[in-house]
Amino acid sequence: MASSRKWFESVAEAHRRARRRLPRSVYKALLAGTEKGLTLRDNVAAFDELGLVPRLVGAPGGFELSTRVMGQEVSLPVLVSPTGVQAVHPEGELAVARAAASRGTAMGLSSFASKPVEEVVAANPKTFFQTYWVGGRDRMLRVLERAREAGAAGLILTLDWSFSHSRDWGSPRIPDKIDLRTALRFAPEVAGRPGWLLRYARARRLPELTVPNMAPSPKDPAPTFFGAYAEWMQTPPPTWEDVAWLRGRWEGPFMLKGVMRADEALRAVEGAGVTAVSVSNHGGNNIDGLPASVRALPAVAEAVGDRAEVLLDGGIRRGSDVVKALALGARAVMIGRAYLWGLAAGGQAGVENVLDILRAGVESTLRGVGKGSVHEVGREDLVVPEGFERRLGAPGGDGP
Ligand SMILES: Cc1cc2nc3c(=O)[nH]c(=O)nc-3n(C[C@H](O)[C@H](O)[C@H](O)COP(=O)(O)O)c2cc1C
Repeated sequence: MASSRKWFESVAEAHRRARRRLPRSVYKALLAGTEKGLTLRDNVAAFDELGLVPRLVGAPGGFELSTRVMGQEVSLPVLVSPTGVQAVHPEGELAVARAAASRGTAMGLSSFASKPVEEVVAANPKTFFQTYWVGGRDRMLRVLERAREAGAAGLILTLDWSFSHSRDWGSPRIPDKIDLRTALRFAPEVAGRPGWLLRYARARRLPELTVPNMAPSPKDPAPTFFGAYAEWMQTPPPTWEDVAWLRGRWEGPFMLKGVMRADEALRAVEGAGVTAVSVSNHGGNNIDGLPASVRALPAVAEAVGDRAEVLLDGGIRRGSDVVKALALGARAVMIGRAYLWGLAAGGQAGVENVLDILRAGVESTLRGVGKGSVHEVGREDLVVPEGFERRLGAPGGDGP
């Protein structure tokens, strides 16, 4: 099914192109992970342990993929997860927002993203603004105010970050800003990446490495990545009262992202009244040694039931991964690296290409297991090996 030279057939191919096209430091920042990379690998490997149960006859003619997440109708159960990355593509999150909109889905926009929330919401009204707990309650109120005024359709609070920075394979070099001196220092890395350079040259600018959404108002100058990061590092972690307080100050749908324990999911739903939780370990970028998020999913989904929406992110690379997550209790999944590779490979078209691959993969998997709708898949469609799950914080499960 060959078409244009730019089209790619798998997320793996998008990944290869991203590795070839991006300067080494930018590529390493996307690859991310921490310490030994145990969680990073397990997120992907765990999906390989799950088998699918085939059905030869019985699949209906058409497939229902659409669903509703955080009040938004999405045309497939795949959303764009927020990622704070810089210098991947001059259009950055605007390209991602346009791609998500053209494929009928929603996106999370990171507070560490390179484009302002106002522009991203204009490109895709189904945008949820993601924030960390930075600077305490007064500062958080200003964050909410800006997201509200920009028209964000929901708020995502991400709490699973432990400032674990070391990587056995080496961390990327990230400059504070790009001036002539830094440009010269990075010249050898960039010299072998003419395509990347050309994109920025055509856009007539250098990557800025600023985080505009960390400014309290769109009129304020965008802080540097490290300036904002330092403020976050110095902020004491929030309490459950803070989480409930923040939720109470946001009128729309609210997601807590980074939940791995059933008891904490329950607390978020019952105590804080969140609309959704995302079972996530930050794509393996939080402390290393956490189990794959998909292993923790069944216990969280059982604990929450239908009192809130349960999403999963971490390790999704193909349509069958999406179906496996749905079969274990997720309403939808969010993707991180898969679309980042697509963005690096081909901008907006690359992200669309990734979403199309996932859609086609979900449809094939539904056909293969004999189901007509993403709402019908269940555990009966999977072979789950003994010992697969990690029932973190669940009665009789792992951990206290
Ligand atoms: C480079 C990179 C940056 C990320 N930045 C953020 C962020 O700013 N906020 C956030 O909530 N999650 C962030 N994440 C986590 C993603 O939202 C998501 O949880 C993760 O990428 C899912 O795993 P996957 O990459 O295997 O799909 C980041 C992930 C990566 C790879």
